[in-house]
Amino acid sequence: MSPDPPSGPRALGAFLSAALRRPSTMGAVAPSSRRLASVLASIVPRDGAPVVVELGPGTGAVSAVIAGRLPTGARHLAVELDPDMVSYLNRTLPALEVVPGDARDLGRILTERGLDRADAVICGLPWALFPDEVQADVLGEVARAIGDTGAFTTFAYLQGMALPAARRFRATLRARFDEVLVSATVWRNVPPAFVYVCRRPRR
Ligand SMILES: C[S@@+](CC[C@H](N)C(=O)[O-])C[C@H]1O[C@@H](n2cnc3c(N)ncnc32)[C@H](O)[C@@H]1O
Repeated sequence: MSPDPPSGPRALGAFLSAALRRPSTMGAVAPSSRRLASVLASIVPRDGAPVVVELGPGTGAVSAVIAGRLPTGARHLAVELDPDMVSYLNRTLPALEVVPGDARDLGRILTERGLDRADAVICGLPWALFPDEVQADVLGEVARAIGDTGAFTTFAYLQGMALPAARRFRATLRARFDEVLVSATVWRNVPPAFVYVCRRPRR
C-alpha cells in the first residue's frame, strides 16, 4: 500500500477516528492545512544543523512541511502521546524520529538523546483542553528548551478567541515570553486559525 499524504483521505480518517476515540487529547476535527503548517514551520532554520521539536504531530500534516524545510544534518523529533498516532506516523513518515511520550517530559526527552536545546519548537497541542498546571508545565519545558536563541510556534482557532480560556492562554504566553507575535488569520484551515510566534522566555 502506498503511503498516504499527510493531508490525504486516509490521514483524515485516522485523525477523525482518533478525535472520536480520544476527544480529550486531540482537540481538533481535522489536521492542520498546508497553509497553517507553513506558518507554524516558518521558524525552522534553513541552514546549519538545527534541532527541531514538534509537540503533538497527530497524523503528520505539520511534520511533512517541517521536513520539507530542514537542512541536511538537522534533527527533527516529533513527540506524540497517542499510541495510534505514533503507529500511524511510523508507517506513513518512516524518516521522522517519532518519540512516544508526553510534551511535559520534553527536557528529559532531549537529554536522553544527548541534546540540551532546541532551535525551534513547533506545537500542535490542544491547549484549550489542558488544565492551567499542564499548560504551565509544557510552557516551562518549551521555554527551557528554546532558551534565549530559539523560537516557538503554536496555533489557536479564531472562533475560540470568544472564550475566556483562549484569551487567558494568550495572556499566559505574553507573561512567559518577551516576544509574542500573532500571525494573520489562516482562513484556509478548518476551522480558521492563527499562529503565535514566541521568543525569549522571560526569567
Ligand atoms: C490537534 S491535534 C494536532 C495534530 C497536528 N499537529 C496538526 O496540526 O494537524 C493534537 C495532537 O496532540 C497530541 N497530544 C495531546 N496531548 C499531548 C501531550 N501531552 N504530549 C504529546 N502529544 C499530545 C494528540 O494526541 C494529537 O495528536
